[in-house]
Amino acid sequence: MTQLAPKMQGPFLARANGPLSGVMRAPADKSISHRALIFGALAAGETRITGLLESGDVLGTANAIAALGAEVEQTGPGAWRVKGVAGRFETPSAPLDFGNSGTGARLMMGVVAGSGAGAVFTGDASLSSRPMRRVTDPLQEMGARLTSNEGRLPVTLTPSELHGINYAPPIASAQVKSAILLAGLGAQGVTTVIEREATRDHTETMLRAFGASLETRQEGDGMHISLTGPQTLTARDIAVPGDPSSIAFALVAALITPGSSIHIAGVMDNPSRTGLITTLREMGADLEIAPGPEMAGERTMNITASYSRLRGIDVPASRAPSMIDEYPILGVAAACASGTTRMVGLAELRAKESDRLAGTAAMLRENGVTVETGEDSLAVVGCGPGGVRGGGRIATHHDHRLAMSALVLGMTAQQPVSIDDAAMIATSYPGFAHDMTALGARLEQV
Ligand code: S3P
Repeated sequence: MTQLAPKMQGPFLARANGPLSGVMRAPADKSISHRALIFGALAAGETRITGLLESGDVLGTANAIAALGAEVEQTGPGAWRVKGVAGRFETPSAPLDFGNSGTGARLMMGVVAGSGAGAVFTGDASLSSRPMRRVTDPLQEMGARLTSNEGRLPVTLTPSELHGINYAPPIASAQVKSAILLAGLGAQGVTTVIEREATRDHTETMLRAFGASLETRQEGDGMHISLTGPQTLTARDIAVPGDPSSIAFALVAALITPGSSIHIAGVMDNPSRTGLITTLREMGADLEIAPGPEMAGERTMNITASYSRLRGIDVPASRAPSMIDEYPILGVAAACASGTTRMVGLAELRAKESDRLAGTAAMLRENGVTVETGEDSLAVVGCGPGGVRGGGRIATHHDHRLAMSALVLGMTAQQPVSIDDAAMIATSYPGFAHDMTALGARLEQV
C-alpha cells in the first residue's frame, strides 16, 4: 500500500522498504524556473510560465522581482504571470532576502546592477557564508558601486551606470557567467564572458528566446559569449522542463535498491546538465532513455531506471561542470557499487550550500563506508550490493542535496539512516517525500 507522504520538517529517517516501482513526472527545473521569473521581470510585456518550481529558492526570486517593481501573480498550481519592467527596476525599500539560494542572489545582483537600481542582498546562514566576490568583482569592474561583508552577504548595491567588459571567470560557474551577461544587458557597449570550461547554457538559450541578440564563438582560450547593451528583452511564454538534478535522487534510489524499476517523464536533456547519467552508465547502470517533447528550447527525455550491479569508475574532472550538484548522490551510488569510485576536480563543491565535499564524505563514513578525501577529490570504496551498514545520523548543514542523498542511502542500507533536519529539502524539491513515497520508499519523522 502506498503511504501518505510525511511533512518534511525536523529530524527524519529513511529505512529499506523493498523495491521501488512506478511512474513519476520530473519536478520542474530550478535553474530554468529562476531564469523564467527573472527574464520575465526584465522584459517588456507579459510572460506566462507553466510548470514553475514552487520551491523556497524560486519563491525567493519571485519575491525579489516583485519588490523591484515587476507584477508577479500565481494564477494556478505552477502557473505564473509576470509583467516586466522593460529593463528598469525600482530600488526596493527593504532588503531582498534570497534565503538559501546562491542562484537567486548571484543572478539578481547582475540584473539589479544592470538595471540601474540599487538593493541590499541578504540570505540565510548558509548563503551568508558563501563567496560573493566571484560576482561582485566583475560587477565592480563594470562600474557597479557596492559594499559587502568581506566578500559575503549582505551586499549593498548603489544605483550605477555600467559599461561592458571582457571577463574570463577564474572558476567554471554558470551563476557567474549569467550575472555578468545579465548586467551586460543594461550596460553600455559590449560585454563578453570567456568560458574555458562549458557550464550550463540556460541563460544563453533563454536570452535568445526572449529576443536578445547574443553571439557565441569558440576561440583558442574558450567560448566567447558576447552581447551589446543596452538591450530590452521581449516577454514570451515558458513551459519549464523537468530537473535532471532533482530526479537524480529517485534515479539512484532505483539503481541501488534490488528489484526496482521506475519510469521518470519529462527530464531536461541538456549535455551541460547530464554528466551524472553518463557516469552512472559507465558504472553499469541499466537506464533506458527515450526522447520527449521540447520545452523552453530544451530537449526532454523519459528515463526507465532498473536495479543494477554498479561498479566503481574514475570520474574525470572535465565532467564536473555538467554534474556539479550531483556528487553527493553519486557518492551514494558509489558506496553501493563494487570497487572504488574516484572523483576529481571537485574544488567548487566546497563553495556550495555547505562544504559538500566534506559533507558527502562525512555522510558516507557515518554509515560505515570507507572514503578518502583530498583538497578537491573524493574516493569512495564501494561496499557492494547490500553492503552498506547504515545507521548514521547525518548533520545536513542546511544543505538540501546532502539531506536527500542521506535519505536515499537509508532506502537501501542495512540500518535506517537519519538526518538532523529535512526542512531544507523544500528549497529545491518540495515534492521529494511525495514522489519517493509514491515509488514505495519509507520516510519517517523521528
Ligand atoms: C546554477 C549553477 C550552479 C549550480 C546551481 C544552479 C544555475 O552553480 O550549482 O545549483 O542555475 O546557474 P555554480 O554556477 O556556482 O556552479
